[in-house]
Amino acid sequence: MNARLHPSSSPVVQGNSTDRAALVVDDLAKQYATPQGPFTVFDGIHLTVQSGEIVCLLGASGCGKSSLLSTIGGLQPADWGHIYLQGDRIQAPDPRIGLIFQEAALLPWLTVQHNVALGLQLSHMPRLSRPALRSRIDQALLSVGLEKFHRTYPRQLSGGMAQRVAIARTIARDPQLLLMDEPFSAFDAITRLEMQQLLLGIIAQQRCAALLVTHDIDEALLLGDRILLMSRNPGRIYREWVVTTPQPRVRHTEDLMSLRAEIFTALSEVMARSTP
Ligand SMILES: Nc1ncnc2c1ncn2[C@@H]1O[C@H](COP(=O)(O)OP(=O)(O)O)[C@@H](O)[C@H]1O
Ligand SMILES: [Mg+2]
Repeated sequence: MNARLHPSSSPVVQGNSTDRAALVVDDLAKQYATPQGPFTVFDGIHLTVQSGEIVCLLGASGCGKSSLLSTIGGLQPADWGHIYLQGDRIQAPDPRIGLIFQEAALLPWLTVQHNVALGLQLSHMPRLSRPALRSRIDQALLSVGLEKFHRTYPRQLSGGMAQRVAIARTIARDPQLLLMDEPFSAFDAITRLEMQQLLLGIIAQQRCAALLVTHDIDEALLLGDRILLMSRNPGRIYREWVVTTPQPRVRHTEDLMSLRAEIFTALSEVMARSTP
């Protein structure tokens, strides 16, 4: 492990209780080796996500959001700090974590139901009987509104439907923590709104914790119970907002306007403070 990269100067951002939290990230830092030398992509990251809570991580392009998410997901090692899932320290991909990316990444030669089954048949997943497997697939496809598409192939799906399959593939595994990296940013405004509402329903149903990376203030305002704004060079948590406006927020957009302006001002501040 490296020596401390930088003294931690980010505010410690935590929910009410860390001991039973779904996710606790404690003083996380990461460097990349580059031809110009080591590059600290994020540093001094503290955050907590409770079960049933959606935390949106907002930040400008290149501030380290994806790097942080894939480190929390165990896809790459941290250089400093610890990650705890339901109190257990994790250092590798964990079956309790579900990852959703911008690309659905379905296997084109498999039907929808077999793409969903794939997530359940990974070597680190508990083995399921055939009826249990069938029931998980049916339930997951029902949750994303694709219960009539079991035998459809990915080429026959729209982009939004393909992403629904990717969500079904993830939730079929019954994750305790969903990590999402700009999952809806490729969609038009209407599809995005549909997907956002779908996600809210799924998280309410599953009671899992969710950390959602976005560069879209409106998406964060629509979905987040809390919004964290990340600065860059290195990536740190710059500010936190708790959003108390009840769901469905589409009916409360006017109430959220002043918060939107506040976040926009803070985003402009962090961009002015840090050159790419
Ligand atoms: N594997 C890597 N090696 C070196 N630099 C990287 C690597 N991955 C990302 N970066 C750099 O880290 C910074 C943050 O990237 P990223 O985490 O993708 O940011 P964001 O998701 O906020 O746009 C960028 O400057 C990017 O070029
Ligand atoms: Mg990214």
